[in-house]
Amino acid sequence: KIEAVEARRIWDSRGRPTVEVEVRLTGGHRGRGIAPAGASRGSREAWDLRDGGPALRGMDVQMALAAVRDRIGPALIGIDASDPRAADSVITSLDPSLLKKDLGGNATVATSMAVLHAAAAAARKPLWRLVADQHDRRPAIPLPEIQIFGGGAHAGRRVDIQDFMIMVPGADSFDEVMEVTSEVYFAAGDIMKQRGKLAGVADEGGWWPSFDSNEEALETLTLAIEKASEKPGERVVISLDVAASEFCRNGRYRLALEDRDMDTATLIDLLGRWIDSYPIVSIEDPVSENDPDGMVEFTRRFGGRVQIIGDDYLVTNAALVDQAADIGACNAVLIKVNQAGTVSEAIAANEAADRAGYRSVISARSGETEDVTISHLATGLGTGQLKVGSFTRSERMAKWNECLRIQDELGVNSFVGGAPLTDTWWG
Ligand code: PGA
Ligand code: ZN
Repeated sequence: KIEAVEARRIWDSRGRPTVEVEVRLTGGHRGRGIAPAGASRGSREAWDLRDGGPALRGMDVQMALAAVRDRIGPALIGIDASDPRAADSVITSLDPSLLKKDLGGNATVATSMAVLHAAAAAARKPLWRLVADQHDRRPAIPLPEIQIFGGGAHAGRRVDIQDFMIMVPGADSFDEVMEVTSEVYFAAGDIMKQRGKLAGVADEGGWWPSFDSNEEALETLTLAIEKASEKPGERVVISLDVAASEFCRNGRYRLALEDRDMDTATLIDLLGRWIDSYPIVSIEDPVSENDPDGMVEFTRRFGGRVQIIGDDYLVTNAALVDQAADIGACNAVLIKVNQAGTVSEAIAANEAADRAGYRSVISARSGETEDVTISHLATGLGTGQLKVGSFTRSERMAKWNECLRIQDELGVNSFVGGAPLTDTWWG
């Protein structure tokens, strides 16, 4: 049973305040959860409650901490934590609205994850095992999507496309993915340095580029894969998060870097040309969250060739996933626990994806901490894919390193990769 719920303010990877919750059970077991924070948020995701005002650039979280101390905590005392779904339904009943503006999604997600960790501790199981057992899933070490260049809201909008990533579906183990990624990451850095295109490191640890066009990023990434002694499109492939909501205004898309303004059809054609010219197997948010027709059209044209992930568009919401499946938009869902507000609601979105035959990618946010819950969720749910940003900075590496630790318990054969592209992967 839950005996105590404590909240404290800690600091995230961008030096901003965030909410940490600790839950203690009768019997002394404890669990801790920390809220992450997005920078390119969907308009329908759970609310990141901030105090506003002059201090800390308006980003303080005293209101969210108070929601945990005064409302969520008292409601949870005495609740049986052995099934964390019970605690999550109490949290949700306190603020059943979609946006959770009242309590704050940062307050609810930190509490929900803390309860889950406490339940795992009490059950004397690693978190991934508890999740797999309770949801009757076969645990599997996920295939990473790893950022090489940051862009969009994570790099001062220096390029319009937000994430230029690689995936290594041809690898036989998670370690092999890490090795290949390290080679590609540093090869990309070398090329950029030589060409005078390196401007530092972006929010998620990827290189901060100073390219002259979005396509220059794709060319450079392909070259980096070659420099790392890989044949692009074989073991290593490219994945993009376009995050198109960020550069959409009134139904038109503005690529500021290239000083171009276009309608949905032109953007879809442009992305199509990239799919034809580069080894791209996955595209996230190719059009805006408010452009369902564009999403359906993009899926109709390219859904057989690439994974199409809804992030801002689906915001880890089971009902929105059901609707997307009805109209034929996307074929994969990004799962961010803090978009939903509780772990149970995020798992419900994953279940909706499974029902629709859509893939799921568990994802971190651009503002992160040492919290590694998502590595356990991705493994325990067997979702198959995990996206946590790049290959530097400890708030990112903590998640990859946790997968390596889990792999030691679960065995190297538990990795989902090793698949020829034509079998399991688009292409
Ligand atoms: P965010 O971006 O965490 O800044 O919202 C991540 C993403 O768009 O996938
Ligand atoms: Zn995204």
